[in-house]
Amino acid sequence: MCGIVGYCGPENPVDVIVQGLKTLEYRGYDSAGVAVLNQGKFKRIRAEGKLSHLEQKLANETFDGHLGVGHTRWATHGPPVEKNAHPHAVGSTSIVHNGIIENYATLKAELIDEGAVFTSDTDSELIAHLVDKAIAGGKDLFHAVIEIIPKLEGAYSVLAVNEAYPEEIMAFKSGPPLVVGRNDKEVVVASDLAAIMPYTNKVFFLQDEEVLHVIGTKIEFFDQKGQKISKKETVIDWSPELIEKQGYDHFMLKEIYEQPRSVAMAMNPHIDLESKTVRLNKVGFGVGHVEELERLDSAADWQNTLNIFKSVKRVFMVACGTSYYAGMVGEYLIEQLSRTPVECDIASEFRYRHPVIPENSLVIVISQSGETADTLAALRLAREAGAQVLSICNVKNSSMDREADGHLYMNAGVEVGVASTKALSSTMALLNCVAMAMAKAKGQLPEDQEAELVESLLATPSHMESVLAYDSFFAEAASTLKDFRGFLYMGRGVNYPVALEGALKMKELAYMHAEGYAAGEMKHGPLALIDESMAIIMLAPSDELYDKTVSNLEEAKARGGKIISIGSGKNEKLAALSDHYLALPEVSWTINPILELIPVQLMSYHVAHSLGKDIDQPRNLAKSVTVE
Ligand code: G6P
Repeated sequence: MCGIVGYCGPENPVDVIVQGLKTLEYRGYDSAGVAVLNQGKFKRIRAEGKLSHLEQKLANETFDGHLGVGHTRWATHGPPVEKNAHPHAVGSTSIVHNGIIENYATLKAELIDEGAVFTSDTDSELIAHLVDKAIAGGKDLFHAVIEIIPKLEGAYSVLAVNEAYPEEIMAFKSGPPLVVGRNDKEVVVASDLAAIMPYTNKVFFLQDEEVLHVIGTKIEFFDQKGQKISKKETVIDWSPELIEKQGYDHFMLKEIYEQPRSVAMAMNPHIDLESKTVRLNKVGFGVGHVEELERLDSAADWQNTLNIFKSVKRVFMVACGTSYYAGMVGEYLIEQLSRTPVECDIASEFRYRHPVIPENSLVIVISQSGETADTLAALRLAREAGAQVLSICNVKNSSMDREADGHLYMNAGVEVGVASTKALSSTMALLNCVAMAMAKAKGQLPEDQEAELVESLLATPSHMESVLAYDSFFAEAASTLKDFRGFLYMGRGVNYPVALEGALKMKELAYMHAEGYAAGEMKHGPLALIDESMAIIMLAPSDELYDKTVSNLEEAKARGGKIISIGSGKNEKLAALSDHYLALPEVSWTINPILELIPVQLMSYHVAHSLGKDIDQPRNLAKSVTVE
C-alpha cells in the first residue's frame, strides 16, 4: 500500500505534491520521492525513510516546471532503500505505482531478454520500462499507456508522465484508489481525497479499468481500449459530522475502508523487509511495565521472546465477541505452522470452567479495548496459574495491556463503530506474525517458507484495497438480501471463524437471523434450515479443503438455498454453482480470512443500512463490555 500524487498547474509542483504526500503518509512511509519537470527534464529526488527526509533533500532544490508526480512507499517488493523508492524513471518516462504487479517476474524476464536494465528490486519499475518502450516505438504517451495496460496483472493504480508531454499525466487503476480534482488553473490526482481537498471539492473517483488523461487543466476519461467515456463529477459537501467520518455515512464503513492501512500498521513493526523475516518487536516479556517497552533493546527482547516461545508447550487463546474469532484464526495459524497445541476459548467460559493450565503455557488474550471484564478476569486467572500472558490490544495502557507479561498492539487507530471491524483484521495480521515467530522458535519454519509467508502478508493491504470494490456489489444486492429469512455462513479450517464473524455481524447490525457453521457440520442439522428463503454465504477459497467445501456447496444448492460463494480468483465451477460468485485475489491460506472479512462486513453493513438500522450503535450493545 502506497500513496501517490500528481500535479499539473501554475504552483510549484513540489509544494503541492509534498503537501499531498503528507496526507497520504498513513499509506506508507518507508521511502518517498518526486519527479518534477525542470528545464524540460524530470528531476527525480528520492529519500529513504519518512517524508521529512525527502523534505530535507528538497530544501536545496529548485524546479521551474509545472508538472510532477510523487510517492510515499510501503515496501512489498524490495527493501525500503532509495533505489526502490518511487518514482521509477526509464528514458524520458517516470511512473509512480501503488499496488502489486503479480506477473512481474515474467514481464521483467521478457524485458531483460530484450536488453532492459533494471535499477531497482521493485515490481513497479517494469511499468516505466513498458511505457518508455512503447513511446520509443512511436506511440504518444496516451497510446503507450493504452498499449501496456493489458499486460499488467494484479492490483495497481499508476501515474505515468513523459518529458515529451510536459502538460500530460496518464493515470489508470485496477484495485487501489485514485481520485482526480480540477479547478480553473490546476489538476491534482491522488490516492485519497485528502490530498485534493485543499484545491477543490469537485472530484472524480476513478473506477477500475478506467483511464484518466490530464492535459493542462483538461481531464478526459477512457476505458482501457482507449474509448472515451463520460463520468459524473462528485461535489464533496461535507458537514462537520461528515468531516469526522471523512465523508463516509457511518464510522463502520470508514473503519472497513481503513483496514488496508490498519493491517499494514499492525504487521509493520514485526517484519524485516530486507530479509523477509518476522521478528516480533519489543514484546517486553518480563519487563513489568508497559512504559518501559520503548526503551527495550529490540535484539535482546526478540531473543527473550524466542526463548519463551521455545519453552511453550501449550497455547490458550482467550477473548470475547469478534476478538474471539481472531483467536480462532490464531488457533489454526499457530497450531499448523508451529505444531504447538492451541486451545481457543470464550473468556466467560474459560474463567469458569476451572481450566487446566499446565506448566509452560502461554495464554494470549485478545481485546480491542483491553478492558472487557471477562477477558481481563481470564488474564488474571492465567497469571495466577503461572502462565505467561501475552496481550493483543488496540488501546495502549488499557488494563490488559498493563497487566500482561508480554504486549502486542493492533495499531488499528481509534475504532468508533460498536461492531468491531478493523481491530479484527489487524489482529489476524498480527497473529500471522505470532504464528511465524512461534514456528521459528520451534524450528518449524524453513527460511523459504518464511519468506513466502512474509511476502503474502506484505501484499495483503494492496489485495484488501481491491476487495473493497465489492462495496458497490453489496450496496446494490442489499435490497434483495434484506428480504431473506435468514443467512447461513459456512467455511472450513481457518475460514470457519470468518463464517462465525459474518453471522455475528449480520445479527448485531441488521438484527436478522444468521448462523455461522463449519461447512462439514452442515449435514448434522443446518441442512434442515435450507430452502429458497435462506441465503448461504460459502467461503470456498482454493486451499487444501476446497474440494470438500464445494461438495458442501452442492448439498446446499440441491436444497434450493440462494448461494453467494467467495473464492479465489476466476473459478467457473464456483460461479456456475452459485447465484453470485465473488472472486478474491489468490493468496496463501494464512491470508484468506483477512480478505474474506471485507465482503462479509460489507454485506452486513449494507443489509443493515437498507433496513434503516443504527449501524454505529446497534441496539442493546456496547463497544466495551466492562461488566460480566
Ligand atoms: C463487544 C463489542 C464487540 C467486541 C467485543 C469484545 O461485544 O460490541 O465488537 O468484539 O465486545 O471487545 P474487546 O474490546 O475485548 O475486543
